[in-house]
Amino acid sequence: MLLELITGRRVVFFGGKGGVGKTTLASTTAAALARSGRRVLLVSTDPAHNLGHLWDTCIGDRVTALDPGLEAVEIDPDATVTAHLVGVEQTMHEMMPRHLHTEVSRHLRLSAGSPGTHEAAILERIARIVDGSVGEYDHVIVDTAPSGHTSRLMALPEVMSAWTDGLLGRRARAEKLADAAEALGAPSRRDRDLLGARGATGTSTDPVRRRNERLRSILEERRDLFRRFRRILTDPELCTFIIVLTAERMPVLETVELHSELSVTGVSVAACVVNRRSPRDQGDFLAARAELEEGFVSSLRDRLPDVPVIQLPLLPGEATSREVLYELGERLR
Ligand SMILES: Nc1ncnc2c1ncn2[C@@H]1O[C@H](COP(=O)(O)OP(=O)(O)OP(=O)(O)O)[C@@H](O)[C@H]1O
Ligand SMILES: [Mg+2]
Repeated sequence: MLLELITGRRVVFFGGKGGVGKTTLASTTAAALARSGRRVLLVSTDPAHNLGHLWDTCIGDRVTALDPGLEAVEIDPDATVTAHLVGVEQTMHEMMPRHLHTEVSRHLRLSAGSPGTHEAAILERIARIVDGSVGEYDHVIVDTAPSGHTSRLMALPEVMSAWTDGLLGRRARAEKLADAAEALGAPSRRDRDLLGARGATGTSTDPVRRRNERLRSILEERRDLFRRFRRILTDPELCTFIIVLTAERMPVLETVELHSELSVTGVSVAACVVNRRSPRDQGDFLAARAELEEGFVSSLRDRLPDVPVIQLPLLPGEATSREVLYELGERLR
């Protein structure tokens, strides 16, 4: 079942419409994998931080043990955005002449509130967590926020590496220009500062050149991080996406849409989990609902014929204790 479908995948995302059971299913899967001896890191990208509530533990933005073999971290979006922007600001200041620094800082303060910045910061954080997970964890399970931005988030590594490539290309041109300028005669200090000077001997004693080299290595490190992450995201052997939904009209439509967006991005979908299926044997009311749900599940299967569909029952109570999660996990084996 679900656990078999994700065996060997280093990164597994859980996504879907709000309230369908993403956090419950991500936790259930992570706990079941850990109970079968795998080392698992559960990551929440949801600002609402339901992971801690569900596990009845204060998790927060540092790795916290939940169970043997299972650790979790709740990415703090605000702290992540702030740290991300401090890094970007430092890089931009190094790139720009001093008289533009105030303007750069003002621009970055304004962009702190924009959704793109948020996504980029969270994505970089996930990429670094995945990078650092090699050898530490067998699986990184990511519980995504019900933002509807998930598929854009998955496409972002490509955009980010293209953006960084653009910056690197511009610097390479500037450095070539500096070389040419130097060949024609010693450039002024100001020109060297703007163009990025290269010592004629090829050594790095020149402070401007050292600064350029440092800048280049920062940009290359980020570009390589995003390239590695993009390669993982688009390798179905390493990464996959589980779409969680309930058997209702809108969740089915949104699942089909999310699946198509993920396909365009090149991210594989291992399964759809239809959560909270009504029982047929608990009275007419629930039997009628079960019948209605059957129609929605058939329509899901018709629209996504190649994606395995796993169904989980509506539980009598809330899925808020370890025991319930373990029990639910048995149904995923
Ligand atoms: N199979 C189930 N039976 C009964 N209740 C369930 C089941 N699965 C989840 N729930 C309950 O449904 C509620 C929503 O679940 P959960 O928080 O996992 O959804 P979510 O998709 O993560 O929500 P959000 O979009 O807000 O992050 C919770 O109260 C949870 O206990
Ligand atoms: Mg959730």
